[in-house]
Amino acid sequence: MAQNRHVYDRLAAGYDRAMRPCERLGLGRLRRRALAEVAAALEGRPRGGRLLEVGAGTGANFPFYPPSARAACAEPSREMILRARDKAARPEGAGLVRAVAERLPFGDGTFDAAFATLVFCSVASPAEGLAELRRVVRAGGRVVLLEHVRPPAPLGYAFDALNLLTVPLFEDHFNRRTAEEARRAGLRVERVEGHLLGVIELIVCRTV
Ligand SMILES: C[S@@+](CC[C@H](N)C(=O)[O-])C[C@H]1O[C@@H](n2cnc3c(N)ncnc32)[C@H](O)[C@@H]1O
Repeated sequence: MAQNRHVYDRLAAGYDRAMRPCERLGLGRLRRRALAEVAAALEGRPRGGRLLEVGAGTGANFPFYPPSARAACAEPSREMILRARDKAARPEGAGLVRAVAERLPFGDGTFDAAFATLVFCSVASPAEGLAELRRVVRAGGRVVLLEHVRPPAPLGYAFDALNLLTVPLFEDHFNRRTAEEARRAGLRVERVEGHLLGVIELIVCRTV
């Protein structure tokens, strides 16, 4: 956790500005799509349902949260949390918790749905993080991931090379196979949608 925390503490001040072009080029639209999948899983749940975001960062997903959900946002970087805390779009009652995906401070089956966007490229142990998501979401709930992953060959080879730079610089893995990791962690992967030549995947899973 310490390493990741330091990287994002350093990047926090410029994060939203740096991401703005990506948001305009389609990331914002994909966030909206991912959160629509989450909202569908909360429909009909008592009091709007319980929702967990891991790696919430500066709160870039807040504008897309289902309005009635009771949300918890886990994030390891103190600097990212400070920015999320001050976001005007932070949903009322959304609690910010300093935690890594690999060790979530919640009981089994606490949530109806959990999601992460652009997080499992940074998580030190995706296997442990995904197992934690499986644990804290009730059986029959949903886990939604919007992640940049290793695209199919030949582009995948370029991402293998890029990975040699991005890991030492930013602790950011450019060649992860997150849908496979989710399957291995025991989540039932229901749908994988590729976007931007397969660089970004929307991965919709059910907990069993
Ligand atoms: C690229 S940013 C994405 C932030 C936000 N989810 C978004 O979509 O803008 C990656 C985030 O993952 C967080 N992170 C890194 N390692 C993590 C871990 N082990 N568990 C949870 N979050 C982690 C970082 O602190 C950072 O906020």
